[in-house]
Amino acid sequence: MLTELLSWNTLKNHCQIANIQMKALFEADSERFKRYSFSAAGITLDYSKNLINEETMSLLTQLAQDVQLEKLREAMFAGQAINSTEKRAVLHTALRNFSNQPVYVDGIDVMPQVYSTLKQIRDFVEQVSTGEKKGYTGKDFTDVVSIGIGGSFLGPKIMSEALKPYQQKHLKVHFVANVDGCHINDVLTGLDPETTLVIALSKTLTTQETLRNIQTAKDWFLASATQQDVSLHFVCVSTNIEAAQKFGIDKANIFPMWDWVGGRYSVWSAIGLPLALSIGYENFEQFLRGAYDMDCHFQEAPLMENMPVIMGLLGVLYRNFYGAQSQVILPYYHYLRGLPAYIQQLDMESNGKSVTRDNLETDYDTGPIIWGSEGTNGQHSFHQLIHQSKTPIPVDFMMPLKPHHDKAEHHDMLAANCFGQSQALMQGQTEEEVIAAMTKAKCATQEIEKLASHKVMKGSKPSNTLLFERLTPKTLGSLIALYEHKVFVQGVIWQINSFDQWGVELGKTLGRQVLNKIIDASLSVEMDSSTDGLIDIYRNC
Ligand code: F6P
Repeated sequence: MLTELLSWNTLKNHCQIANIQMKALFEADSERFKRYSFSAAGITLDYSKNLINEETMSLLTQLAQDVQLEKLREAMFAGQAINSTEKRAVLHTALRNFSNQPVYVDGIDVMPQVYSTLKQIRDFVEQVSTGEKKGYTGKDFTDVVSIGIGGSFLGPKIMSEALKPYQQKHLKVHFVANVDGCHINDVLTGLDPETTLVIALSKTLTTQETLRNIQTAKDWFLASATQQDVSLHFVCVSTNIEAAQKFGIDKANIFPMWDWVGGRYSVWSAIGLPLALSIGYENFEQFLRGAYDMDCHFQEAPLMENMPVIMGLLGVLYRNFYGAQSQVILPYYHYLRGLPAYIQQLDMESNGKSVTRDNLETDYDTGPIIWGSEGTNGQHSFHQLIHQSKTPIPVDFMMPLKPHHDKAEHHDMLAANCFGQSQALMQGQTEEEVIAAMTKAKCATQEIEKLASHKVMKGSKPSNTLLFERLTPKTLGSLIALYEHKVFVQGVIWQINSFDQWGVELGKTLGRQVLNKIIDASLSVEMDSSTDGLIDIYRNC
């Protein structure tokens, strides 16, 4: 077991006695920033504001070696069935493989299928954009309604939002996920069925919310069109070709997916079709190329010069040796405001587990709670807790150096806040400093005595800062791949399978049973008094 490893216990002892005071480390080493920052695939990582010294990093590296991180990394890229409970390969990396090398799954090179699907996406985007593909009354498409949930929603939606400056003007892409009727109502209201293209995104085509929303969209469409017009306006992305055809979608309008791509890792597949329609195929390919650059870095860089490895190890340090329950993602960039939600699924659905690959219950914590929001908004909401709570909450700050707007003074303020927040978390302020400042401000002694302790900031609160020149499709691809591989690194260390999600099944099953009871009052199946009580209130409202 992990906790029996010498490196694990040495690290544990190290953290218990290290008592690292970040401000002192910066004062003692003017080269600290240089020592703990580097660039890769268009991203610069400053990890100097962490509870680390050379010994910490060496012990973390040893831990990575003890769990054979490099061997498992190689196994993933080579298409081995590392998704052990579903006996599947994990090959979202094949979807952005620009090496011209084959990737084998069960002895078959999958790259030809990947290339042909990319061509299908390119052709489709071109035909819609040029007007070659038109609606049933001969009009060009003006709107796309993308229906999907989880990875079939978060990826295309959040990446399209993040790349707003690259969105094509002639086509507006809308996203529907929730089964709450408000969502699809809000999206469909005001759209013209003659010029609306509907894309059903579902790896399994068994997800109840998505099936319900697709049917509602079809009913909406058929209120003014006929069944044979469906083939012009509905396309589907799924592994479940049969179910898509049964739904009435033409085979030519079905984009394949594969079971060796997990839902939360699928934005690089045809699940990214709405994104490609939104930003154009060329930009979509740049997005893929950025991820490929990060893949190459992850595969080639030595552990201590490896961005996903370092970010993954730092997350383990805080989660398992400093009692951190969560990890905050703070993009100081309005267009990246959705990123925390994207990383929530990526990280929490991958590593929110407590049984190891060897079927043993872990005796240590695993995936953290991921949360966050755009900066500077968080400063006026939850930063108080991050600055002065007892629980360490590691933060990932990130921002583009150059904006897509011409308001330089705004960007200067954004940068100043981003850097100032991480500085405040790092250095804090002692009671002596507070008293000196209040004395200088001529505060009354009584007020100083009353307030000083409330103004003390412990400091040594860890954060990373990620900088990139501009959020281009390529940089965004690198950034997302960085977090994918960080999650992979942590899953390897925690010795769990990051690529299944058995924990979502029971809720789905019980949800279906409750729905049956809501719909059919004659059903006498006895449930617990709470569920039955809730159903009764609902049914009699
Ligand atoms: O939440 C479970 C899950 O399977 C996610 O992993 C997935 O992204 C989502 O539901 C949607 O699944 P599908 O694309 O098969 O509809």
